Amino acid sequence: MKINTPVTVVIFGGTGDLAEHKLLPALYDLKQANCLPEDFFVVGFSRKDLSHEVYQSFITDSLSKKGKPEDTDFVSRGRYKQGDLLDVTSYKDLAVYLYELDESLGVCTNKLFYLAVPPALYESVFTNLAASGLTVPCKEHTQSDSWSRLLVEKPFGDDRKHAQHLDKLLGKLFQEDQIFRIDHYLAKETLQNILTFRFANAMFEPIWNGDSIERVDVELLESFDIKKRGSFYDGIGALRDVGQNHILQMLAIIAMEDPGHIDPASIRAARANVLESTELAGSIETSVVRGQYEGYQSVEGVAPDSETETFFNAKLKITTPRWKGTDFHIRSGKALNETCSRITITFKERVSCMCPENDTRSHKNTVTFMIQPNEGISVQFWAKRPGFAYTLEEKDLSFMYPVSDQRLPDAYERVLYDALRGDQTLFISTEEVIVQWNLIMPILEQWSVLPMHTYTKGVRPDEIGGTI
Ligand code: BG6
Repeated sequence: MKINTPVTVVIFGGTGDLAEHKLLPALYDLKQANCLPEDFFVVGFSRKDLSHEVYQSFITDSLSKKGKPEDTDFVSRGRYKQGDLLDVTSYKDLAVYLYELDESLGVCTNKLFYLAVPPALYESVFTNLAASGLTVPCKEHTQSDSWSRLLVEKPFGDDRKHAQHLDKLLGKLFQEDQIFRIDHYLAKETLQNILTFRFANAMFEPIWNGDSIERVDVELLESFDIKKRGSFYDGIGALRDVGQNHILQMLAIIAMEDPGHIDPASIRAARANVLESTELAGSIETSVVRGQYEGYQSVEGVAPDSETETFFNAKLKITTPRWKGTDFHIRSGKALNETCSRITITFKERVSCMCPENDTRSHKNTVTFMIQPNEGISVQFWAKRPGFAYTLEEKDLSFMYPVSDQRLPDAYERVLYDALRGDQTLFISTEEVIVQWNLIMPILEQWSVLPMHTYTKGVRPDEIGGTI
C-alpha cells in the first residue's frame, strides 16, 4: 500500500556499510513496489565532504552492486549533507537544509531519521536532534499524519547500564511512538510466520512444550568474516552484535506464550515475558563457549591483542512450566563453514517406537525454521519405505519462500515501510531491550574467566570448544 504523506528519510551514517548494502536498496525496492509517496527524498548525512552528485553516484553504485535495474528518478531524489554527529551546529545546519528542501517542494515533509551509526554515538545524536528542533513535526500539518520518527539500530547501548541511560534520555526527549528500535530479524518472513505456524494451527501448540520437545537450537552462522567492519565490530563482539538481539528475538518467538491478540503491545509483552524467564542453564564455565577466528587481530581497526569474540555458543533454560525439560542452545559466529540462520526444534523420541528391532538410529522428529539465506519451514518425520521389508526412512514436508510469484520483501524494506506507516509490531520495546541485556550481562561480566578458543576459518561450530 502506498504511503501518501510526503517524507524525507535522513540517514545518519549515510555513506556507511548499512546504508550502501541494505537501506538504499530497500528504499529503491519500496519505490518499485509503489509504496513510497510522490514527494520523497533521501538525505545522506556523514562526515565526508561530498556533493549531491557524488552521493547520487554512491546510490547508483549501491543499487548496481545488487543488480537492480537503473531508476534515474529514484537516484535523483538523493541528497547529501556533510556534518559532524558530535556537533550541534551540524544538526542546526541540517535543519536549515531540510527546511529549504521542503520549501523547494512547497510541502513540509515528515521526517524519518535513521541512526546507522555505532551505539557510542547515540547519546550525542539524540541530544543534538532534540536541541536542533529537527524532531518536531511540521507545524502546518494539523492532521494526525504529521510526524517525525527515529529509527535506532541495534545494539541499543553497550550494556544494560548504558541502555537504561539511553532509554531515560529518549523518554525525556521524545514520545515513545516516535521511537523505532530496530531488530531487522523480526521483519524476516519466516520469523513472522512462526507465530502463525504455532498459533493458527491446532497441530503444533499442544506439543510445543518440555514434555515433547527435547531441545531447541537457535543459530546464526556466517561463513564470511568481519570484512571491513573492524572498528565497529571490535568494540562489540558476536554476543552484542547478534546474540543480545537477533538470536534472543528468534528464541522469544519460538518460546513465547500465546499473546492472545495480534496487536503490537500484546506481542511485544509476550516476547519480553518469556525472555524474562530465560537464563543460563548452569555456570558460565559449563554453559558458554567463546572463540575468535585466526587472523581476526590483524584486521584493520581491530586491536592487535583483542579479546573480542567472533563466536559464541551458550546453553540456556526457560524456567516457565511449559519449558521444563527442554534445553535451549544459541550460537553464532563469523568465518564458519556455512552461512545459515535457522531454528531447529528436536522432539523427544517416542517411548514405544514402531521401529524395526535392528534399526539403531534415534527416531526423533525435527521442525526446522530456515531464516537465512533461503526462508522456509520443514518438518522431518519417519515413514515406511515402500516394499516387502519393514524399514523406515526419513521424509520431509517443507515449503520455501517465495511461493509461486510472490515477492519476498527484504527485512530492511519491511522495517522502513512499517516505520513510515507508524506500525511498531516488528520493533522492540524498551522492556525487551532491558530483559535482553539482563540475560546476557552475566556472560559479558564473566567473559574473561572463559578460555578463548582460536579457530581456523571455515570450521564447523561444534569444532570450537566442544559440546556444552
Ligand atoms: C547484523 C550484524 O545486525 O546482522 C551483522 O551486525 C550480521 O554482523 C547481520 O552479519 C546478519 O543479518 P542477515 O540478515 O544478513 O542474516
